[in-house]
Amino acid sequence: MSRLVSLFVCIFAGILLVDSQFNVEIQEPKLTSFLNRITNTTFDLIRSGINVFGNTIETIITTFSKIEDRLSALVELIRSQLIKGVPELSIPILDPLHVNKIEFDVRHEAALLKGNAKNITIKHISKFVVTKEKLTDLGKLRFRLDINLTFPFIRANGTYQVNGLIGQTFRIFGNGPFKLNIIDLRIATSTILKFTLPGQLQVENISILPRLRKLENNFENMMNDPDTGALINKAISRLAPEALKIFWPELKRPIELEFIKYINNLLDNASVVNIAKRIFNIT
Ligand SMILES: *[C@@H]1O[C@H](CO)[C@@H](O)[C@H](O)[C@H]1NC(C)=O
Ligand SMILES: *[C@@H]1O[C@H](CO)[C@@H](O)[C@H](O)[C@H]1NC(C)=O
Ligand SMILES: *[C@@H]1O[C@H](CO)[C@@H](O)[C@H](O)[C@H]1NC(C)=O
Ligand SMILES: *[C@@H]1O[C@H](CO)[C@@H](O)[C@H](O)[C@H]1NC(C)=O
Ligand SMILES: *[C@@H]1O[C@H](CO)[C@@H](O)[C@H](O)[C@H]1NC(C)=O
Ligand SMILES: *[C@@H]1O[C@H](CO)[C@@H](O)[C@H](O)[C@H]1NC(C)=O
Repeated sequence: MSRLVSLFVCIFAGILLVDSQFNVEIQEPKLTSFLNRITNTTFDLIRSGINVFGNTIETIITTFSKIEDRLSALVELIRSQLIKGVPELSIPILDPLHVNKIEFDVRHEAALLKGNAKNITIKHISKFVVTKEKLTDLGKLRFRLDINLTFPFIRANGTYQVNGLIGQTFRIFGNGPFKLNIIDLRIATSTILKFTLPGQLQVENISILPRLRKLENNFENMMNDPDTGALINKAISRLAPEALKIFWPELKRPIELEFIKYINNLLDNASVVNIAKRIFNIT
């Protein structure tokens, strides 16, 4: 049994590393509703924040003359609100973040995986570090904003359920609690912002590139067998950074387009644009 598993682990690793033609279908409506949850909450936070923290933002604008310094100060303001929430606006605490359910349905010749994760608690998302931040004036009121973030250590736990086939023969299944330690997740973003007169600001494009250094995971009750389960967990841990690289090109565009749509929805508001203009020194 365990030799078969080692063989599968090697084959699966090989397929993941070699086959760049990954055809992953994460069910679109489900992915979108998950993103909606995250982006809506975040943008509600920003939108309401402009009302509640108007004075703080005012202070930031007058205290710092460099645009980069203003953005750094805004990032710190957002970080503190992730931790504290804004009870008077029913904005929940986002660190720890609670997600009720994520469903997935991956269909590919190398793997079929269907299942979900429920009752997920994600901790330490507010402990990100802004590793690099750069604003480039592209002329004609267009700007490129490059922000790189590092999340040194995110913990998540919850319950999971998965059922699937690897390489058309190896059945994989499990159901129970899980724990993840996501170590050194780096997200590089590059956003093109365009001010159009009068008084409009739109995101023209956004590029998001995540990289993961290490994943520690324990999915309990995998394969109804502790030894096999331990091997599968090891395989997941070993493959995760590479799998993210391979899957990302497929996932990237729908996720980026969602972000563009939601940010533009947020920017479709005169008071938000006015604040942004003042932050960017545009008259
Ligand atoms: C998020 O907001 C959009 C537009 O404001 C809305 O259509 C959508 O239903 C919201 N999603 C959730 C999960 O609340
Ligand atoms: C979800 O997890 C919390 C603790 O994290 C627990 O109190 C609660 O009972 C769980 N809910 C369900 C439906 O499993
Ligand atoms: C997640 O971990 C917390 C402790 O950090 C615990 O209270 C909770 O029950 C765990 N949730 C699940 C679903 O195991
Ligand atoms: C952000 O990270 C990416 C990928 O590591 C890198 O190519 C880019 O130059 C970085 N951006 C800045 C502003 O340093
Ligand atoms: C937007 O950015 C993506 C990279 O994420 C790039 O592939 C695409 O060509 C860009 N689109 C435009 C119109 O610049
Ligand atoms: C724009 O945002 C302001 C500040 O949050 C809010 O008071 C106003 O209702 C919004 N306007 C529209 C049209 O959404």
